[in-house]
Amino acid sequence: MSAPRIGRSALKAAKGPAPGVPRILNKTQPSPAPHRAGVPLPKRANPHLLNLSSESQTRMSPRIMTMLGVSVLTIGTYCGYLYTSYRREVAQAQLMNVPEDVSDRYNHTARTFDADVELSEKLMRIGKKRRDLVQQARGHVLEVSCGTGRNLEYYSLGARGCRSVTFVDLSPEMVEIAQEKFGKLHPGFKWVEFRAQDAREVPSPSHNRGQEKVAYYYDTIVQTMGLCSMPDPAGTLRHLGALTEPQQGRILLLEHGRSHYDWLNRVLDNLAPAHADRHGCWWNRDIGQIVRDSGLEIVEEQRWHFGTTWRYVLRPRRS
Ligand SMILES: C[S@@+](CC[C@H](N)C(=O)[O-])C[C@H]1O[C@@H](n2cnc3c(N)ncnc32)[C@H](O)[C@@H]1O
Repeated sequence: MSAPRIGRSALKAAKGPAPGVPRILNKTQPSPAPHRAGVPLPKRANPHLLNLSSESQTRMSPRIMTMLGVSVLTIGTYCGYLYTSYRREVAQAQLMNVPEDVSDRYNHTARTFDADVELSEKLMRIGKKRRDLVQQARGHVLEVSCGTGRNLEYYSLGARGCRSVTFVDLSPEMVEIAQEKFGKLHPGFKWVEFRAQDAREVPSPSHNRGQEKVAYYYDTIVQTMGLCSMPDPAGTLRHLGALTEPQQGRILLLEHGRSHYDWLNRVLDNLAPAHADRHGCWWNRDIGQIVRDSGLEIVEEQRWHFGTTWRYVLRPRRS
């Protein structure tokens, strides 16, 4: 038994029962010395209490006290600084008049995009989530909003995996970077195409049979972190559904947006205009609502990071 426990039980024994609680005496034990109700026993009357002060007193060294004080002061100052910066950013963000369509921002940020997102993706282990999703891609594949090609290394290319891949992004600068990366990663793979194009305008894939053009479907459509940037996310998903093979085809999404928690959503909402204006991304979108509005069928749904990272496997709704 530890010293404080001995101390507490000794105290209890010394004070007697709580008021109103009848005291049951064990006849085999000698009864305690009688004393008047409400008058506490003198400390020296109990041998346990005599030892109490020397046992329970632990002195903290002045050095540790100083270090603790300095740490508390530093953390307090830093939190104060963060809070002040947050309030200032919120005040500025509320005054901004940011258009809904901020997708043109990527033309200016393309060259620094990878460096900008690298650390946060590492900390959140987004690379693994990209790999787990993209490894499911099979057959004729379309990736929209491909950006700088952060998924390229995860594709399994070839007859047993992805037979052909088409990469599309609205920003020609982003597509150019993705194409450069692909050339280095998969120099021998020929069934690949890169296009600077709006995802809403991607046509069905087709091949020539004699003079005739025969349209077919994509087996897999991939999009990661794209719904936050487009002006009509539900309409775009609906369009992608029309390009997907109706029986076995899948749309694979890894997105970011609103959280499970109101306090975090308030932070996202407060800073959204400033973030959208700078980075071309509305980080407070309700991804679940967008998916439901698209009318696609949900095969799988998962969320991480307080609910802000969303993964979906979708397919065209069967009529
Ligand atoms: C946040 S970045 C994500 C890039 C990449 N998918 C990734 O996971 O890193 C969003 C991308 O969506 C693209 N985008 C925005 N609106 C688009 C649209 N309507 N059609 C195609 N791409 C679009 C932007 O140009 C940008 O490259």
